[in-house]
Amino acid sequence: MRRLLALAVVLLFSAACGRAPATVAELEAANPVRPLPEKLVGHEFALASVKHAPEPEKARLGRWLFFDGRLSADGTISCATCHMPEHGFSEPTPTSTGIDGQVGGRKAPSFLNAAFAFYPETFWDGRAGSLEEQAKGPIENPIEMGETHENVVAKLSAIPGYRHFFGLSFGDDAVTIDRIAEALADYERTRVSGNSTYDKWVAYDEDEYEGYDQLMTAQEQRGEELFFGDAKCATCHVGNHFTDSLFHNLGVGWDAETEALADLGRFVVTGEEKDRGAFKTPTLRDVGLHAPYMHDGSQATLEDVVEHYRKGGEKNPWLSPKMFELELSDEDAAALVAFMHCLTGEGYADVPPAVFP
Ligand code: HEC
Ligand code: HEC
Repeated sequence: MRRLLALAVVLLFSAACGRAPATVAELEAANPVRPLPEKLVGHEFALASVKHAPEPEKARLGRWLFFDGRLSADGTISCATCHMPEHGFSEPTPTSTGIDGQVGGRKAPSFLNAAFAFYPETFWDGRAGSLEEQAKGPIENPIEMGETHENVVAKLSAIPGYRHFFGLSFGDDAVTIDRIAEALADYERTRVSGNSTYDKWVAYDEDEYEGYDQLMTAQEQRGEELFFGDAKCATCHVGNHFTDSLFHNLGVGWDAETEALADLGRFVVTGEEKDRGAFKTPTLRDVGLHAPYMHDGSQATLEDVVEHYRKGGEKNPWLSPKMFELELSDEDAAALVAFMHCLTGEGYADVPPAVFP
């Protein structure tokens, strides 16, 4: 009886779509469960050993959800519309455009290596306490995906293929918003970047790596020296993933004429004076792939970003005490930019699955 009912639903669904839904075998072939990646060069741990390590089955389900426009009200916007794999899961525009062409005020940040973050807060202002909590936000954000959680759950529940894979991930085939968020978060955690030129430079020495001498140019090495030395970039862009996961005011968005910040950032979450205009330190992994930069996309190039640091940020009452004028020559500034391009790695590339449930 249950089988008959399921069949009726499948037939109704295919009639509605005008084509037969993919079989489980086709779906498995298009999006197989993938083992978690081994430890990449430049990482301290393997992904499997982090707290909240992603579960491969959930990450596979999350991959469909991430690329599926049906999570939005009109079927046109998926998470990948703004978080594009080829741009390090960020985007090449200053701010995001969501449903009905609506433009937001902030740039979609990269979440590469978020599984390894020191602290779990997400968004530029840290208002979500986990990737799971974060993932629910865009679905019902009226200018992003413009859908309700209730509708998304109803839509996905009506798709037998999705129910099958929710069953494999969670033990029964109920679709809930928390399960959607869990699967999305686990997919995001599998997006790891390593094996960059800089990672190899640090990990190996001449005897271990053929062509070691050619890995980093003299200019790039000078950039490395400055980044960790006199330019003090690593006070905030710290560790293997180049972020302290904390919040700092660099003066981005400060209007000296009106003496106002365009976006109060972390302050809106904590209400603490020191957090006015403070934003989360973004990872610099693969940063060369997603200009323009900063929470508002206001700086067009890495050269512009370095200029911003060179003058000590934009003076304002809440400027981070860790910001100060840098005495850098033009060659030094160019070296810092060259160094940042050495942080482009691999391990996260993806395309939408060819077949969806
Ligand atoms: C319309 C564009 C758009 C869509 C669609 C979108 N995002 Fe985002 N995403 C953004 C923007 C903009 C931010 C930063 C917002 C902020 O900080 O207030 C962001 C932030 C994030 C972050 C935080 C990263 C960090 O380091 O703090 C994650 C993770 C994320 N999005 C995942 C998702 C997922 C999962 C989906 C699909 C359910 C999604 N996004 C859909 C634009 C989008
Ligand atoms: C006081 C902490 C701090 C220091 C020091 C610091 N950064 Fe940053 N960095 C941040 C924060 C916070 C942001 C985001 C600011 C915003 O959007 O308002 C950022 C943004 C960036 C970005 C843009 C990334 C993106 O995805 O938009 C780059 C590139 C960058 N920093 C490079 C550097 C370099 C190079 C140095 C050294 C010259 C440096 N940073 C020093 C905290 C810091």
